[in-house]
Amino acid sequence: MSDDAFSHQSVLLQESIAALVTKTDGFYIDATYGRGGHSRYLLKQLDSKAKLWVFDKDPVAIANAQDLARQDKRVSVFNQSFSLIKEALHSHDQTRKVDGLLCDFGVSSPQLDDAKRGFSFLKDGPLDMRMNPDEGQSVAEFLASAAQDHISEILFQYGEESQARKIAKAIKNTSEPLTTTSQLAQLIQQVKGTNPAQRKHPATQSFQALRIYINKELEDISKLCKDLDYILAPKGALVAISFHSLEDKIIKKVVQGDQTLLRDLPFAPEHHVAFGYRIKKCLANDAELAHNIRARSAIMRVIERR
Ligand SMILES: C[S@@+](CC[C@H](N)C(=O)[O-])C[C@H]1O[C@@H](n2cnc3c(N)ncnc32)[C@H](O)[C@@H]1O
Repeated sequence: MSDDAFSHQSVLLQESIAALVTKTDGFYIDATYGRGGHSRYLLKQLDSKAKLWVFDKDPVAIANAQDLARQDKRVSVFNQSFSLIKEALHSHDQTRKVDGLLCDFGVSSPQLDDAKRGFSFLKDGPLDMRMNPDEGQSVAEFLASAAQDHISEILFQYGEESQARKIAKAIKNTSEPLTTTSQLAQLIQQVKGTNPAQRKHPATQSFQALRIYINKELEDISKLCKDLDYILAPKGALVAISFHSLEDKIIKKVVQGDQTLLRDLPFAPEHHVAFGYRIKKCLANDAELAHNIRARSAIMRVIERR
């Protein structure tokens, strides 16, 4: 059994699964397993012939998924990025196409709540923020090695931080490299000051920007969208829950087939989808908004392949 002290409240649970399931014996993928809230609810709607593949980059999420797979033979677990779903289908000789692909983007509550993961400006921990701590650079390593202009660009592009230049300059001018979340949060607070009219912590946008950059979140979404023609069966659906306007913009481009936006994003690869898609939008209802704060910024898109 995985040892997990943290929990995650799934967003748009009933709405997303209702939109996803077209066949009770179908082949489904949960691209962002987290703590499996969506996967468990989905499995209840499916019969014994159905199949569910789950993906996550986070080793704690994967341990939780492996527990589920031991209890339910319909589940297979993939400890890798959802950007590699096409490659996973290919390497498993999987000729059956996917009837429903669920993506619940961004960070999970357990990742934020566990100070050791270094995602939160409210909890002191190592300045890390990697969903897979064994892959790539931590935020501390990135800030220590990157040029001031590059840091500033990341904070502005991914966090819409209007004081990106000043923050990047302060980061590069510290006498010792930053190693903890508190050090970075305090530095940003000093640069920006505290505005009593502003309810958000001054470090909110910078932390979000660094997390998106370090985990290559937009590149992964772009790659997945590029592969949709290969992944989805006719009449299959991508159900995507986004928490950031840049994620939602990439998803919307699937139906428009337009490459210009992605060229404007720093580091986003080329994007191309050839077949026809239909798009619907859904937001959380008042009851959910009242008890799940994360639902406030969630936008769900259902993209059906015609
Ligand atoms: C918002 S949580 C998902 C919560 C989940 N739907 C639930 O109900 O428990 C997002 C999850 O996606 C994972 N994730 C983010 N980007 C990923 C990627 N490119 N590939 C695989 N997993 C990713 C994160 O590690 C995190 O566990």
